[in-house]
Amino acid sequence: MLAGKKILLIITGGIAAFKAIDLIRLIKKAGGEVQPILTASAEEFVTPLTAGTLAGNAALTDLFDLTRESEIGHIELVRDADLIVVAPCTANFMAKMANGLADDLASTAILARDKHVIVAPAMNVKMWSAAPTQRNLKLVVDDGMQIVGPVSGEMACGEFGPGRLAEPETVFAAIQDYFFTFSENLPLKGKRILVTSGATREPLDPVRYLSNASSGKQGTAIAASLRAAGAEIEFVTGAADVPPPNGVNVTQITTAQDMYDAVHETLPCDVAIFCAAVSDWRPKDAGSEKIKKKGDGKAPSVEMVLNPDILKSVAALEPGERPQLVIGFAAETENVVKHARAKYERKGCDWLLANDVSESSGTFGGDSNVIIFFDKQGHQEWTQMSKAEVGLKLTNRIASFLKHPD
Ligand code: CTP
Repeated sequence: MLAGKKILLIITGGIAAFKAIDLIRLIKKAGGEVQPILTASAEEFVTPLTAGTLAGNAALTDLFDLTRESEIGHIELVRDADLIVVAPCTANFMAKMANGLADDLASTAILARDKHVIVAPAMNVKMWSAAPTQRNLKLVVDDGMQIVGPVSGEMACGEFGPGRLAEPETVFAAIQDYFFTFSENLPLKGKRILVTSGATREPLDPVRYLSNASSGKQGTAIAASLRAAGAEIEFVTGAADVPPPNGVNVTQITTAQDMYDAVHETLPCDVAIFCAAVSDWRPKDAGSEKIKKKGDGKAPSVEMVLNPDILKSVAALEPGERPQLVIGFAAETENVVKHARAKYERKGCDWLLANDVSESSGTFGGDSNVIIFFDKQGHQEWTQMSKAEVGLKLTNRIASFLKHPD
């Protein structure tokens, strides 16, 4: 949803520079234009050729590239952009931005800026927490720059803590959000869309539960993309590894029954998308006391009862109450097409996105997905793409469906 938007992407040196390549891909997929600038140290990690080829615009590297300077000076470069993004931003570049240094093309562009700047820092945890970096951070924030991340995790150097570059999807979501705030012509403006996401948890006793390994990443990416296209999002989520996207209405639930109730309370809506991994059964009696080991050495047996099928119940609503488009997911571990086709028929949804969640696929908890898309015409396989790209592709399809329903 970035059609026609020009993003000046400054890539500075650091092990995370390769992630800027994924960011370029996401921006391009969303229809945006990218002009990369690489600092000299960034060139140690990614080549200008890679960044330029993916961006479709030659990557700029040197302030004293005189030919380029005469064609389009660094001032024009900034004037021409709609937004500036620095990802990854090293401690050194943060210091330059904070103090107005302008000794290369990237820092000159920042000093000459008249556009919003999103900064995604990435550095060693000690460098991040060092007093000078924190002082510089305060200065750039006071200057109006927007900071995304860093996140905590294991660093390339083996240390652990804050300093890792935010995921490309997160930086991308911040870019979408920026344009969303200022955009008037969004394809899903005025549409209300329900998205379920994450994993339900069914208590066995007060300290144990039955659940699954859903990370919530796909539901979150879809909700972020729909929101960036202007939709009002009702996000009903169970447990997830990632926080809900910005700007959506969040209902946090625990069990499948809670999710069922929250979904039916949220209706009516224009579109409903069921990404959540819902537990099909729950223990019949979740006692209020912890189940204790028995003296006879035998494991307890647990009686299960069926949970309501939320997707099916919404797909079966009468016209008028039923969303115009009901979209399900199918998590399969084998015979994906056969099982997903049967599920599509059984659930009564309009579209179904099937994915292979077998251990070898890496889908559960991972960042990419291979989708087989079912509608009443048949099915088609989408190539492997990131979960953010799945969100974009689905958003485009929903927008064109709502414009011209079959
Ligand atoms: N779903 C739901 N409510 C349930 C179970 C599933 O809304 N109680 C939705 C999921 O959100 C997903 C779709 O139904 O959109 C399919 O979920 P999946 O777990 O793949 O299928 P199941 O219905 O659980 O069937 P099976 O266990 O036989 O694969």
